[in-house]
Amino acid sequence: MVTRSQATLADPDVDRITVDGRPVPPSEAKHYLLLNKPRGYVTTLADPQGRPVVADLVRPVGARLYPVGRLDWDVEGALLLTNDGPLTHRLLHPRYVLPRVYEADVEGRVTSGALARWRRGAVLADGPATPAAVALVRSGAERSRLRLTFTEGRKHEVKRYCEALGHPVVQLKRVAFGPVALGALAPGAVRRLTPRELSALRAAVADRP
Ligand code: URA
Repeated sequence: MVTRSQATLADPDVDRITVDGRPVPPSEAKHYLLLNKPRGYVTTLADPQGRPVVADLVRPVGARLYPVGRLDWDVEGALLLTNDGPLTHRLLHPRYVLPRVYEADVEGRVTSGALARWRRGAVLADGPATPAAVALVRSGAERSRLRLTFTEGRKHEVKRYCEALGHPVVQLKRVAFGPVALGALAPGAVRRLTPRELSALRAAVADRP
């Protein structure tokens, strides 16, 4: 059948689709995964220094998947991987201010009285940074745990922010990326996003009229 209508439905499993006699390759199946990146893994597909890379952990899926943004080598937590380039581009675009939630174990005691200062923001080497939310999870003499939400993906942002407030990070974990929460996923484990999570992610980066 020859059609001039863009609305013609074809089944790539049954139909041979050609344009001007040339076959149209079937579009690649899309995969959307959540990985709990373990510490000690680099957020790349290959590392020239031979360190373990996140691609090693998602290889069984059999498709070439790209990480959505980065986590430092020594940071654990929620990392999305997909072969959906346009969605990745939007998720990382500063226009959509997607919240990234971190649990930071920091040196020293942070008291609830100091939280106003933590919420006020600080000037880092590449400009001001202000968390969208700050909560104190645990306060101890040697170490305290904070839950910090940032809406940008600036390099080492959480570590630099905590350092600027006089409490260097000892251990950092990302517990949510936008509407996708890490939950009880173990370090190194991977799962597919649920349809609900995928719709929520798409909605978070949809253009509003
Ligand atoms: N902030 C950091 O300091 N490191 C990360 O990996 C992510 C955010």
